[in-house]
Amino acid sequence: MRLLVLAAALGAAVPAVALAAAPAPSVQRGHEVFDRWCAPCHAPGPGHPGTQSLEAKYKGSKPGALEQRTDLTTELTRFYVRTGVSIMPFFRKTEVSDADLAALGAYIARPRP
Ligand code: HEC
Repeated sequence: MRLLVLAAALGAAVPAVALAAAPAPSVQRGHEVFDRWCAPCHAPGPGHPGTQSLEAKYKGSKPGALEQRTDLTTELTRFYVRTGVSIMPFFRKTEVSDADLAALGAYIARPRP
């Protein structure tokens, strides 16, 4: 009987620990990840192959610079970052961890005025 009570107490404690271990993705951290891994190709202006490719792809219907896009969900960002496209490499978890990728997605999808 005492064992049962202990098991029930443990069962209730585990989800609380799991929740505490996964903090909400931080937009600030996402900005840092973007600057390190994405800005060389996706910053605004000339000399950024990602920005120029997306300008050519969308022909003015969407901004070329990713940080000015308002239609990129965290799911889409995750897909492109883990898969790559054209000359964009995919990024390994040792480069952009799952937590950093969640933050990056939150940064790109952040609500804007
Ligand atoms: C080596 C340059 C390079 C790097 C680094 C890079 N990208 Fe890209 N990315 C590109 C290019 C080029 C394209 C456009 C491919 C095409 O023409 O469809 C692209 C496309 C994308 C798209 C698709 C957008 C669309 O509407 O089709 C997303 C999202 C994206 N990149 C996110 C990222 C993120 C986030 C990072 C940082 C983790 C990153 N990229 C790093 C070059 C890069």
